[in-house]
Amino acid sequence: MDIRDNSIVTRLVTLRVEINKYNYLYYVLDRSEISDEAYDQLMQELKSIESKYPDLVTEDSPTQRVGAAPSTRFTEINHPIPLLSLGNVFNTADLENWYTRTCHLLGQDTFEIVCELKMDGLAVALTYENGILKHGSTRGDGFHGENVTQNLRTIGSIPLSIPDNTNGTLEVRGEVYFPLSSFTEMNRKRELENLTPFSNPRNSASGSLRQLDPTITNQRPLDIFIYGLGYSDGINTPNNHWDTMGFLQELGFKINPNNLHCTHLSEVKEYYDYWLANRETLNYATDGIVVKVNEFEQQTHLGNVSREPRWAVAYKFPSEQAITRLTDIGINVGRTGSLNPYAILEPISVGGVTIKTATLHNEDYIKEKDIRIGDWVIIQRAGEVIPQIISPVVQKRTGGEQKFSLPTNCPKCNSKVIRKPEESMYYCTNYNCIGRALEKIKHFVSKDAMDITGMGEKLCENLLTANLIRDISDIYTITADEIMKLDKIAELSANKIIDSIEKSKTRPLSRIIFGLGILHVGSQVAETLASQYLSLEKLSKADKQSLLHLPNVGTKIADSITDYFSQTKNMDIIRSLEISGLSLRQSDENTESLPFHGMRFVLTGRLENLTRSAAEHKISVLGGVITNNVTGNTDFVLSGKDPGSKLQKALNLEIRILSEEEFLYMIDTY
Ligand code: IVH
Repeated sequence: MDIRDNSIVTRLVTLRVEINKYNYLYYVLDRSEISDEAYDQLMQELKSIESKYPDLVTEDSPTQRVGAAPSTRFTEINHPIPLLSLGNVFNTADLENWYTRTCHLLGQDTFEIVCELKMDGLAVALTYENGILKHGSTRGDGFHGENVTQNLRTIGSIPLSIPDNTNGTLEVRGEVYFPLSSFTEMNRKRELENLTPFSNPRNSASGSLRQLDPTITNQRPLDIFIYGLGYSDGINTPNNHWDTMGFLQELGFKINPNNLHCTHLSEVKEYYDYWLANRETLNYATDGIVVKVNEFEQQTHLGNVSREPRWAVAYKFPSEQAITRLTDIGINVGRTGSLNPYAILEPISVGGVTIKTATLHNEDYIKEKDIRIGDWVIIQRAGEVIPQIISPVVQKRTGGEQKFSLPTNCPKCNSKVIRKPEESMYYCTNYNCIGRALEKIKHFVSKDAMDITGMGEKLCENLLTANLIRDISDIYTITADEIMKLDKIAELSANKIIDSIEKSKTRPLSRIIFGLGILHVGSQVAETLASQYLSLEKLSKADKQSLLHLPNVGTKIADSITDYFSQTKNMDIIRSLEISGLSLRQSDENTESLPFHGMRFVLTGRLENLTRSAAEHKISVLGGVITNNVTGNTDFVLSGKDPGSKLQKALNLEIRILSEEEFLYMIDTY
């Protein structure tokens, strides 16, 4: 052994124990007992020791959750004990029949039951050998599944190792799911990024777990509940299901706290009724309850019929459906100009939530389902966050219903609409379409981008309609007076909006890149681009090949970026943003050394020897900031011919006034 001293090994072990403890508290018990910074520090320390002593890295070290290289396909794993599916019952009478039949088969009047929620995700099996997670796989066809170990390792609530008393083999089974809050948040972000939202949490969980690149799975906040023991060898496990769940919980697995041990069928019915009424409070989708015979001996005695156990049954919740009238079909124009049809519904409550609209995706979807205006339609919320139209109720048609086709002209700007041959989507051909501009502006001012508070949809729309703004760069030219006149907004609020616009000028480069709304460039890619290129100028010159070297950037994104910067109108917008004083550089690229750094300029009147935009450009290149209004913070007012009221204001506030000549002299020296 090298000069590694024992204290390092001790520290390493202590760190792992500590980190595993906080992981367990956070991911399994949902408790946070350490600040993010302190946690990161522990992780950093562990990583640095491990990088110095690579032979001390173990596969269950908390640093080893993500990191496996992407694979080209999943290998197959055989399930030594098949993963079965469940028979269903849909009403009390069927449940009672199942109970009576089971009693009869057991030759008893009663038996112990465990009730559990039926989580709507995907089943996985996790195998531990001598306490270490060796592999994890999907259910597949029940006999063979896909080896998704590397992806499962990224789920924080799956222990990479379990305590020492588990020498032997243990296979546990559980349901991987996408927490609903994270699902909603992810879809909100996807919509902001003009990506198609995922249709439901189950498909997303499955899609996320079956990514060939574990770093992608790692970005999806999947979770798991363990609901069963597959098999064990060489480990003393309890002889009934309830105690087994307790035993697994002790080992560090995440067990659903809503499981219930019952002795009477009436308790099962109460459990079902309770969760039917309260499932909305859960942060995961459920589609029923699972009723299990508790004793393993009884389970073995009952056995299976075909692929379903006789010892368990799913008592399904009725899917949350309702029928309502589709009164009209509206169309939103997206940031890319896509025409997005949606159903306007007579408001109806489905599972406690009032639904007024539902997406219709595209024209093909409407045609395939033969949805017509005036139809009665069945809508469904089955754990899904986005309500879906299942089908029209054809029997209820009166003959007055109207078939729908997407218009040939844009509903917002009346320009021609085209259908891209490779997509089912229609697009407005007018780059300056007001609908499209509105979406771009909404995106730019949104929380995740420039975070301009007070600029709500209505104000943006009114500013656009009044022609006060046409694109995102015009936001920086609005005055408080304009806002007040336009929206009958009080002076104080108008000033607040202007302040917030001003404040947004200091947003980091990554936010600006994201805010530009380049197709497929989400906030994460934007961050990568900012840290890689350090300025918009450099990014705008990046070629496809260099972009393709970046993490998470594939052909689609690279093409979209180069296409964006190849358009003169986009480059004009960027130039205007720079002139308005946005720093289009990462702070690493220092502006402090520039001669106008931190100086605020206001321009008024007509310049004779250079255009206004050339002057503005020069100021910002030299590190200065151009603002629209003269305030106590203004450093210089550049006054040309026929200056406006800004000059008077500058005089009143005793602000330094520059003639065009003086200005030219100033910039000439640099
Ligand atoms: S027990 C043979 N318990 O439902 C019994 N399954 O239709 C095996 N599921 O593939 C399953 N929650 O993915 C069990 N508490 C729970 C469950 C559950 C969800 C899923 C599981 C299984 C499917 C069966």
